[in-house]
Amino acid sequence: FGLMAYDPGYTNTASCKSRITYIDGDVGILEYRGYPIEVLAEKCTYLEVAYLLLNGELPDAAQLKEWDDSIRFHTVVHENIKRQMESFRYDAHPMGMLISTVAAMSTFYPEAKKVGSPENRAVQIKRLIAKVPTIAAFSYRHSQGHPYVYPNNDLSYTENFLAMMFQMFNNGYKPDPALVRALEVLFILHADHEQNCSTSVMRAIGSSDADPYSAHAGAAAALYGPLHGGANEAVLRMLAEIGSVKEVPKYVARCKSGEMRLMGFGHRVYKNYDPRARIIKKCAEEVFDVTGRNPLLDVALELERIALEDEYFVKRKLYPNVDFYSGLIYEAMGLPVTMFPVLFAIPRTAGWLAQWKESMEDEEQRIQRPRQIYLGERTRDFVPLEKRP
Ligand code: CMC
Repeated sequence: FGLMAYDPGYTNTASCKSRITYIDGDVGILEYRGYPIEVLAEKCTYLEVAYLLLNGELPDAAQLKEWDDSIRFHTVVHENIKRQMESFRYDAHPMGMLISTVAAMSTFYPEAKKVGSPENRAVQIKRLIAKVPTIAAFSYRHSQGHPYVYPNNDLSYTENFLAMMFQMFNNGYKPDPALVRALEVLFILHADHEQNCSTSVMRAIGSSDADPYSAHAGAAAALYGPLHGGANEAVLRMLAEIGSVKEVPKYVARCKSGEMRLMGFGHRVYKNYDPRARIIKKCAEEVFDVTGRNPLLDVALELERIALEDEYFVKRKLYPNVDFYSGLIYEAMGLPVTMFPVLFAIPRTAGWLAQWKESMEDEEQRIQRPRQIYLGERTRDFVPLEKRP
């Protein structure tokens, strides 16, 4: 095989050059365009961060207003997209609905195939960032058997999403500002994470010049897996299965024996505490002040305490990741576990698109086409069916 490198899982292969997100996993640093995640989570809105990821700089007041207005302009989806969503089974998983609906959007915007034009790309980017929360909220309403709620463009990005989720006829729904801010912070923390599995899929599909809706749907499908964005759903199921603090040591022992993984723990890049998990842990306490304490938090805290002292986890540098505490917040906000991966996909849309835009503008990028180490048979004589043993 000559000089071909074998790198299963790409632990040591850079697939691109990027200026968007910096991670130093050994010390637990995460920066978007050079700004520490802690600062952005404290001072920005999600749309401001999305602008930063896509354009490289924070917007000034006029740029932010124009950006915000243009996102509001695109929040409504075509009625036939809504009808298509209505045709899913009553118990369809919201993430399956999101993936297939975003894929279907490419048929509504065929001009998106002309990915070579920056103006065309800019419109599709706005459409996706604006419409994904609408589709996400529709998928939730579908699972509840409730009528879909159209976007209200007088509301902010996160308020609008919560209203589309929870507003009933004339029930005067008004999201609590503390919950709106918590969701904003969670969206900022999930907005990008350099070349993770789903982002690599976004870039790989984009590298064949496929339209961004098809690429987004592929990225969302990669995110759905329990080792990636599906982990927040798996964490909540795990915490519910453990049930109480006294059952934690038994569960940790089962994880150490290799029977299962401790969900929400470990990361390919972070070999230290995931900085996002630290912010989310603090955010959880603020949300619980409004919603009441989620009793599973005590199970999570005990899991973390035991795991961080245990030689198995210490030796392998396994720390809580972003998914360990996020599900507890979503649950406290009244969101069902099936929505958790969807709540990851909404904010990651900005990151996927920023990475896709960067790859489209990168003159060194070529179609992604890894090689393999072939281990199968070589040229053999064909045996007719009647003569095969
Ligand atoms: N529980 C128990 N053992 C673990 C865990 C875990 N959560 N994660 C890794 N290990 C062990 C693994 O068994 C292996 O042990 P050994 O060396 O004895 O074979 C060692 O640690 C290295 O694991 P790996 O699978 O080679 O590590 P990786 O970098 O390929 O996998 C990971 C990273 C995130 C997939 C993995 O840690 C995992 O499965 N975690 C649980 C799922 C999870 O929380 N995923 C969310 C990731 S963060 C958000 C996102 O990406 O979406």
